[in-house]
Amino acid sequence: MSSRSRPLVAGNWKMNGLRADLAEIRAIRERTVDGVAGEAEVLVCPPATLLAQAAEIAAGSPLAIGGQNCHSAEKGAHTGDLSARMLADAGATYVIVGHSERRADHNETNVGVRRKALAAIAAGLRAIVCVGEAKADRDAGREMTVVGRQLQGSLPTDVEPQQLVVAYEPIWAIGTGLTPTAADVAEMHGFMRREVEKIFPGRGGLVRLLYGGSVKPDNAAELLAAADVDGALVGGASLTARDFMAIASTYAGVPAEG
Ligand code: PGA
Repeated sequence: MSSRSRPLVAGNWKMNGLRADLAEIRAIRERTVDGVAGEAEVLVCPPATLLAQAAEIAAGSPLAIGGQNCHSAEKGAHTGDLSARMLADAGATYVIVGHSERRADHNETNVGVRRKALAAIAAGLRAIVCVGEAKADRDAGREMTVVGRQLQGSLPTDVEPQQLVVAYEPIWAIGTGLTPTAADVAEMHGFMRREVEKIFPGRGGLVRLLYGGSVKPDNAAELLAAADVDGALVGGASLTARDFMAIASTYAGVPAEG
């Protein structure tokens, strides 16, 4: 692995978590303070109802808190939506945009995802832009075409590369227990690295490329060691401090590069 940014292990709680589950955030915080994640940055994206409380718990620790979605407008008549500025005001420093569940459930398009990423960055957040192919695309051998199109359409270009994180999440691997092989992940991440390098010549290494989709304590070491993988986006296994920090501990003892 050539010179890269600090790895990022991000948890996506999706539509899970009540106030009682803030105990997991407390436990994750304690373990980050104890250095369990080594050089990796640890982020939890709880549901919006818990965001401000989670951020209060994380305050003063290395644990970062993020949102799971934002609107592309700064404010206004958008009932039920949240702006990036509101997330930042509640204590978020990151936001996930364009997760495949939102692309499917809310018909989010590449153009819309790109607007959200720009709004997030304008509000001072880092944007985690999700891409990934469906099973039929991989079966037909067109996964790179699909992901390439998503990257071209969803990634803002007029930003600093450090403000952008890309998560490669093959849809068929999300919540299924299935994962691509480490070789397949490395191949896709190598492709994505070349794509971000086209957008940010000489600085593509500063865009962190996460792998997501059924990352668990028992497969994290292999998946995260794949070339051009700068961390993980973890769904189900991020709901407990035990599993999530077991994944993050993959980076313990690995010196930060770049
Ligand atoms: P999973 O979800 O880890 O439960 O597969 C990953 C994601 O959708 O971010």
